[in-house]
Amino acid sequence: MSENEILNATIRFVKNELKDAEGGHDWWHIERVVNNARLISRSEPVNHFIVELASLLHDIADAKFYDGDEDAGPLKARAFLAGLQVKEETIALVGKIIRNISFKGGNFTIDFSSPELAVVQDADRLDAMGAIGIARAFNYGGFKNREIYNPSIKPDLQITREDYKKSSAPTINHFYEKLLLLKDRMQTETGKKIAEERHRFMEIFLAQFYQEWGGKK
Ligand code: ADP
Ligand code: NI
Repeated sequence: MSENEILNATIRFVKNELKDAEGGHDWWHIERVVNNARLISRSEPVNHFIVELASLLHDIADAKFYDGDEDAGPLKARAFLAGLQVKEETIALVGKIIRNISFKGGNFTIDFSSPELAVVQDADRLDAMGAIGIARAFNYGGFKNREIYNPSIKPDLQITREDYKKSSAPTINHFYEKLLLLKDRMQTETGKKIAEERHRFMEIFLAQFYQEWGGKK
């Protein structure tokens, strides 16, 4: 199979796997991440085939929806790619990228790095910021039946990885626990630039939100 055929087969597989996914983690999220990754990898020394493949497969089995199993995604990607006779080296690299891409808050130590990981991770993080990031956060909060905001529940900035996963705090808290921290974790030059704009937009949104709420922060 040519690289193009592999990518097309992967698109079909991912669309089908994610057809009932929550709105923030559906095919459209994948498509936006692929587009972000293309944009920010223009000036990065990456293997573009690996970037495309990892972008497409990065949320194929989110640990959040698999009882916290962080190996679910890499294993599913491996099974799929092996079925297409993709070479082991590629499968292993894509698996490592998928395994390491998520920032789940707290004290997660990264055990692998590569230029392709940096690009896909930045691309995924950008989609959690700005107007899209706001839409996704409230969609996720609604999916989990969370409060939008509760002035008496303060954000937990020291949140550990385990508590982050279990958290049922209001969605506004998620901005302080994750979304506003993303800007300083960007790794590529283009990613950093886009993140600045999206960060500013979230700050404007929050200021307006509190003003309309009429309450205390
Ligand atoms: P990633 O895929 O980058 O590891 P997640 O899967 O945790 O991140 O989050 C994916 C999307 O769901 C993001 O847009 C994120 O903001 C949103 N999300 C995750 N956890 C929460 C939460 N507790 N409240 C609101 N939105 C959330
Ligand atoms: Ni994602």
